[in-house]
Amino acid sequence: MSTPPEKSSLPAASLDAALRPASWDEYVGQAQVKASIRISLDAAKKRGSMPEHLLFYGPPGVGKTTLAHLVAATLESPLKTTSGVAIERAGDLAAILTNLDPNTVLFIDEIHRLSRKIEELLYPALESGHLDIILGKGPSARTVELALPPFTLVGATTRVAELSGPLRSRFGGGTYQLDLYGDEDLRAIIRRSAALLGLDAPEETIASIAARSRATPRVGNALLKRVRDYAEVHEKPLSSALTDEACELFGIDALGLTKDDRRYLSTLLEGFRGGPAGVRAIAAALHEEPETVEHVYEPYLLRLGFIERSPRGRILTMKGREYLDATTKN
Ligand SMILES: Nc1ncnc2c1ncn2[C@@H]1O[C@H](COP(=O)(O)OP(=O)(O)OP(=O)(O)O)[C@@H](O)[C@H]1O
Ligand SMILES: [Mg+2]
Repeated sequence: MSTPPEKSSLPAASLDAALRPASWDEYVGQAQVKASIRISLDAAKKRGSMPEHLLFYGPPGVGKTTLAHLVAATLESPLKTTSGVAIERAGDLAAILTNLDPNTVLFIDEIHRLSRKIEELLYPALESGHLDIILGKGPSARTVELALPPFTLVGATTRVAELSGPLRSRFGGGTYQLDLYGDEDLRAIIRRSAALLGLDAPEETIASIAARSRATPRVGNALLKRVRDYAEVHEKPLSSALTDEACELFGIDALGLTKDDRRYLSTLLEGFRGGPAGVRAIAAALHEEPETVEHVYEPYLLRLGFIERSPRGRILTMKGREYLDATTKN
């Protein structure tokens, strides 16, 4: 195989960064989201001001962080990245905001993790570009307004429902939902990643990796890398037969489902008679966090039509039962 050695030793953690699209053209799919963000950015650039604040939400690995990078690059602005978890106290937020270079894109990942107190401090910063700082304590305490350099907040979250209404309403530049990807887009993403990794991947290999990507670019890229590793170890060229062989070893089936997904489905069937079952009860039966079940397992199972959400809980569909039947027979 023709893989350059320096690419082979790429640590998994830097795969996202190495394969991250650097231009709008390389950012595959999500056409409506891209077009609409670019209008906000172009309009702001024409006015010579910073655009209004933007919020991106969607499942893990669908391109939210990548979009934040593209926004900053388009505006030719510095990008400052932080996370809702890292901003615990008022002082943390004040330190970040007062140290921003003018016209920075401030990216707050996992923005749903900000406490209400921090959210409230953020409101004046988002609306009128100042921070209210309280000096002193008790009856002699007074509030001073500290003017901030102009900035655009880009928030990202996998859990938009956990954001308070007042915070959501402050993203004047728009709230954008990133969807899971269709097969053609996934193939384009994996084709590009294969080229960047210096791999000679036939179209059939790309298609079989795309089909197992759980409709998620990050999952596809990671699987491409694992299949590449497998091919190197076995000193075989990439092919769909080799992909099948590798995926069988990894426990990933033709739809990209793993034993954890099958355990979810069989728990819903056997433990809850096919539902409806609440996500907390399912999570407890699986010894998983409800958040993991809801945000990692379920989006793709919902997309496959193997489960449905109802007001009373999750339901295993006919399609889900047929899948389980077929896999347990084999
Ligand atoms: N539209 C896209 N086109 C090409 N590659 C993409 C696209 N979206 C995501 N990717 C690839 O998937 C990887 C993961 O994307 P990214 O880190 O932006 O996801 P995320 O939504 O921020 O995930 P998380 O919720 O876990 O933070 C990127 O490094 C990039 O290589
Ligand atoms: Mg991210």
